[in-house]
Amino acid sequence: MEATQVPGVLCREIMPDSCTGADSSRANLEQPVRYEPLGEEHGDEVMQLLLHSFFREEPLGIAAGVRTPEDVHHWLPAFVRPIARAGLSSVAVEAESGRVVGVALCHLVEGHSHDSPLMAALQPQRDIKAMAVAQFLADLHIGLDEDAGSLSLLVLNVERHFSGRGIAAELVRTTEERARQRGLKAVTADTTGEFSKKTFERLGFRVLRELRYEDYSGCTLRPGPVHTTARVMLKNL
Ligand SMILES: CC(C)(COP(=O)(O)OP(=O)(O)OC[C@H]1O[C@@H](n2cnc3c(N)ncnc32)[C@H](O)[C@@H]1OP(=O)(O)O)[C@@H](O)C(=O)NCCC(=O)NCCS
Repeated sequence: MEATQVPGVLCREIMPDSCTGADSSRANLEQPVRYEPLGEEHGDEVMQLLLHSFFREEPLGIAAGVRTPEDVHHWLPAFVRPIARAGLSSVAVEAESGRVVGVALCHLVEGHSHDSPLMAALQPQRDIKAMAVAQFLADLHIGLDEDAGSLSLLVLNVERHFSGRGIAAELVRTTEERARQRGLKAVTADTTGEFSKKTFERLGFRVLRELRYEDYSGCTLRPGPVHTTARVMLKNL
């Protein structure tokens, strides 16, 4: 697969908001946010959001050492663009600026197959840290059948300065609605930390399986103190 650069990646660390030119401290918290289907036109902006927000905070990636743009820029377009084309995902957009401030990336789990869009985007020899993430998630699902035919929420991310406003919950509700419209019976999610678990639990998801990072034998993961456990969660519609 041909490597593609994420446009505009100039910073060396996946850390500052300055990577995107977005000054989140100026976010007007009274500004309404609207929810839209993720289209191909959002692809670049979503990748920037993931770079300066998701990979900076998501517990499993942190535990696997995914830290710099070099750890993600080879494979991120190959992960995001097919998901955007599938038309099952959603973005939260700040109404005034039109800026993407949240995203729910979703994938249809066909039959009993657990083909992972992340695994499909990676080259094992090159993307070693991201492979650890993909392998952990694959192992988390081994032998699990309850999620067959569900809409799987792969990535949930809200920019930090918009956190705590219920935007993640609204993105999950939008995902549920999309699944209902398609006649699907369930939504599933891989939750890799305690904050997202809280969001899903409040919306009526239950835990199908959980695995403590320190009990995983596939590779060494170094989670922070707060987020100790990954879970597969499900809600029947
Ligand atoms: C997890 C995430 C999507 C939650 O988004 P959100 O819009 O803040 O979600 P909600 O408004 O529904 O709030 C969820 C709960 O988590 C809490 N929370 C979210 N981020 C937090 C943070 N950095 N520190 C402390 N609490 C946090 C919220 O305060 C809220 O709890 P409360 O209502 O008891 O206060 C967002 O924090 C995020 O993108 N994190 C980084 C990526 C990630 O880990 N994604 C989930 C992987 S599956």
